[in-house]
Amino acid sequence: MNSTTNELAIAASGLRKAYGDKTVLDGIDLHVPAGTVFSLLGPNGAGKTTAVQILSTLITADAGELWVGGHNLASHPQSVRAAIGVTGQFSAVDNLITGEENMLLMADLHHLSRREGRRVAAELLERFDLVEAAKKPASTYSGGMRRRLDIAMTLVGSPRIIFLDEPTTGLDPRSRHNMWNIIRGLVAGGVTVFLTTQYLEEADELADRIAVLNGGKLVAQGTANELKRLVPGGHVRLRFTDPVAYRSAAVALREATRDEESLSLQIPSGGSQRELRAILDWLDSADVEADELTVHTPDLDDVFFALTSHPTAAAPAALKENVR
Ligand SMILES: Nc1ncnc2c1ncn2[C@@H]1O[C@H](COP(=O)(O)OP(=O)(O)OP(=O)(O)O)[C@@H](O)[C@H]1O
Ligand SMILES: [Mg+2]
Repeated sequence: MNSTTNELAIAASGLRKAYGDKTVLDGIDLHVPAGTVFSLLGPNGAGKTTAVQILSTLITADAGELWVGGHNLASHPQSVRAAIGVTGQFSAVDNLITGEENMLLMADLHHLSRREGRRVAAELLERFDLVEAAKKPASTYSGGMRRRLDIAMTLVGSPRIIFLDEPTTGLDPRSRHNMWNIIRGLVAGGVTVFLTTQYLEEADELADRIAVLNGGKLVAQGTANELKRLVPGGHVRLRFTDPVAYRSAAVALREATRDEESLSLQIPSGGSQRELRAILDWLDSADVEADELTVHTPDLDDVFFALTSHPTAAAPAALKENVR
């Protein structure tokens, strides 16, 4: 281990993977400091799962220098495997057996003694609020329970680095928040988390650093705030219920962007008090009375749309400069 790989839980440079003539990862670089949450975002098919599968030794890369947990992925995949846990996009839970039996199976795979296996399984079932369900077949579990069991199973081997591929897809808001607390708890215990998600709010909540994957490349990387600064998404939105009022407002407010379907108009604005007052004065003088007025500051959704709207097109120059 050299000094760089020491502090980094995951270090990838020039990671490349193609399926046939389709290049999925076109030479990407990733650096995840130990004890942090790194979130990989990207539209469906961008290659998030592929990246997780490569870094967790499930499939091999075509090229790239890859280090996980201080071990070289090509020369020491077994050492990498011993250091990590993976919760795949699709559940690893065996539905035919109970939650507890799934846990004990994992304990066996990790070569824990019978006694130790039972202790770890009981502790994790408790932590993931699955004690009551433990003796029931996993086939009877709800999606949220199955996801919790999935992650509990990942933690049996006490991994220092965990890969979570869309851990909260399909969960209701409460279960999602519970999952976030679980992830925060892991990080507080020093675990490094590599997270993929479709929920930008999730990356915003959890991730120390976020990377956006599109067209085989990382089109931006940074903290949530750094990424948000990349897009000028601030606007005031006026919504109308009466199509006639909407149309006359649209004529009066020529500079506004129209959305005919939702009968709404968008006026670019940074959202400051001064700007809002100017807009309100302007609306009064144009005799426009909207049914709803909302102020929208740029969020990760805006960043995501700006960066991933054209699958093959390059990111705007201003955004590219922020790729580190
Ligand atoms: N085994 C495979 N053989 C051929 N093509 C594959 C294989 N696995 C993935 N792909 C292709 O690689 C691309 C990336 O897939 P991947 O599953 O990594 O995307 P993703 O970002 O995880 O998408 P999602 O958000 O839908 O989960 C897709 O075009 C997919 O069709
Ligand atoms: Mg995926």
